[in-house]
Amino acid sequence: MKLSSANINVMVKTCRRAAKILIRDFGEIENLQVSVKGPGDFVTASDKRVEKIIIEELLKARPNYSILSEEAGRISNDESFKWIIDPIDGTSNFLHGIPHFAISIGLEHNKEIICGIVYDPIKDEMFTAEKGNGSYLNNQRIRVSSRSKLKDCLIVTGGPRRNLKERDLALKEYDKFSSSVDIPVRKMGSASLDMAYVAAGRFDGMWQRNLNYWDIAAGIILIKEAGGFVTDFNGNDAYIEKKTILATNSGINKEMIEVLK
Ligand code: IPD
Ligand code: CA
Ligand code: CA
Repeated sequence: MKLSSANINVMVKTCRRAAKILIRDFGEIENLQVSVKGPGDFVTASDKRVEKIIIEELLKARPNYSILSEEAGRISNDESFKWIIDPIDGTSNFLHGIPHFAISIGLEHNKEIICGIVYDPIKDEMFTAEKGNGSYLNNQRIRVSSRSKLKDCLIVTGGPRRNLKERDLALKEYDKFSSSVDIPVRKMGSASLDMAYVAAGRFDGMWQRNLNYWDIAAGIILIKEAGGFVTDFNGNDAYIEKKTILATNSGINKEMIEVLK
């Protein structure tokens, strides 16, 4: 049986409260698809609404902790504890009425991530992890897959949209990867869920460049506590600084590095 710590309980409660708004707003998106203006402004407002609730709830429970959040930026308190928040990860899916997005919250202590939660409110899938205590999906222990040959694997990636040079590099990488190994590569549109799925053994590996810390903070501990590896493309620990991530089960890390080189 899993024993949840006080911090995980705070994160779960926060996600459940924020998810109520997120689900309500997602219901509204369908109506807005057909409106002349489209759902763009509504989604921006929803992102902020959800973030406000998350921050409010976290500050209520832990008034001294600092915060780094995608929309609101930084709130500086005790810097040794910091929440890393992405209120909606998978915004493009959300905007288009595709039910694949998540709330992602990581907790850092002295620069190390010690807790993480990725919550998919539509499928009601809650992925949680805490240092030394394993990874869970709705309270059931999860582990990375045991496939050890890339040719048998299902891999996920994402692509940067904004910077043309980076986009070009990501496309070339995708082509190279797909032509070197004849296996399916998915793009699902939510990096935090991609990582949670690696932790749960659904995907065997994931790579992506140009991520933000809030996309990956919770996913990192989910994968590590599920027995997987998180590195940069050279197999090193510098993934947070480089914002480039290779997340795999324990069997294919080396083979993925070879192919991505
Ligand atoms: C994005 C998603 C997407 C990834 C992008 C991220 P957002 O986050 O995680 O899967 O490919 O790099 O920016 O904008 O939906 O919070
Ligand atoms: Ca994100
Ligand atoms: Ca976001």
